[in-house]
Amino acid sequence: MASKKKLKLKKGVKKRLFRLILVLIVIILGIKGLSIYKYHQTYEYKLIQIGYTKEEANKLEDKISKEGIENLLKDDSRDDDVLALVSEKYYLKRNYDLYLDYYKHNKSDSFEKIVAKVNAGAYREFYKDTQETDTSKDILVLVNKYKVLTEDYEVNDLKKIPAEYSYGEVEAREECYNAYLKMAKAAKKDGISLIVTSGYRTYARQEEIYMEMRNSQGKRYADAYAARPGSSEHETGLALDVFTYSATTENFEKTETYKWLNKNAHKYGFIRRYEEGKADITGYSPESWHFRYLGVDTATKVKNAGITYEEYYAYYIEK
Ligand code: DAL
Ligand code: ZN
Repeated sequence: MASKKKLKLKKGVKKRLFRLILVLIVIILGIKGLSIYKYHQTYEYKLIQIGYTKEEANKLEDKISKEGIENLLKDDSRDDDVLALVSEKYYLKRNYDLYLDYYKHNKSDSFEKIVAKVNAGAYREFYKDTQETDTSKDILVLVNKYKVLTEDYEVNDLKKIPAEYSYGEVEAREECYNAYLKMAKAAKKDGISLIVTSGYRTYARQEEIYMEMRNSQGKRYADAYAARPGSSEHETGLALDVFTYSATTENFEKTETYKWLNKNAHKYGFIRRYEEGKADITGYSPESWHFRYLGVDTATKVKNAGITYEEYYAYYIEK
């Protein structure tokens, strides 16, 4: 009798255990099914479905907004151009739509160029939709054909550069002035004589310069070499036109003085601002004499990056 009871009991336990296992299996399968269902809803899965690798999908999710991804998913195959674009060194997520729009109309430009131009704002006509520049950036302020200074912008720490290192009355902001003197003295030790011919200019003075050039050489020429008032770095007191005696704008780049500056200016906080081949970004033809003070740290970084200040500012300074 006792052993029959035991057997019944054992059978009961087995049955319950079996049911428990069954329930557990159902639960596990349910969870698994749910997680598969959930994964199928992710952008990673959907992007993989149209041909991207997992890594590429993750990169796209990181570099493009949700709306951008939704648009990509409207295509039924991978887009190598988009991948190339987001892989550019100075790609900015905030400019994604502008890059695509620019690319649509300028298919022959490289992605590097597209990113540079869009970041600099140069995807639009020069002087179109100008905005007041952020002067709180102080010595890092960006002034160009899009980011401008108002007529009443004031500079109040100007110092006059000694006659030994300048031609005519030239003033610069104190920090720029100190850096320039340090640089001019170091150059002198190397047998190089630096002469600055133009520094700080008022809005009114810039207008005179621009209009004189425009009246004598025409609008196209004037816009390639002179800024319209409000758009000149000279109005910040942080730009200097540096030459040496007997040099002209045509031959300065060939002089030993220019070579010295090209090698050393960043060590004193200056960069050459308008380089060869960058007029579509800076808005100006090459100027081997126009140096901009940014401080040693930033000038060195810009120089080493080999990009214009427009590009550097968009990527590292502007938020
Ligand atoms: N020449 C430079 C571009 C200026 O006028 O500021
Ligand atoms: Zn200049």
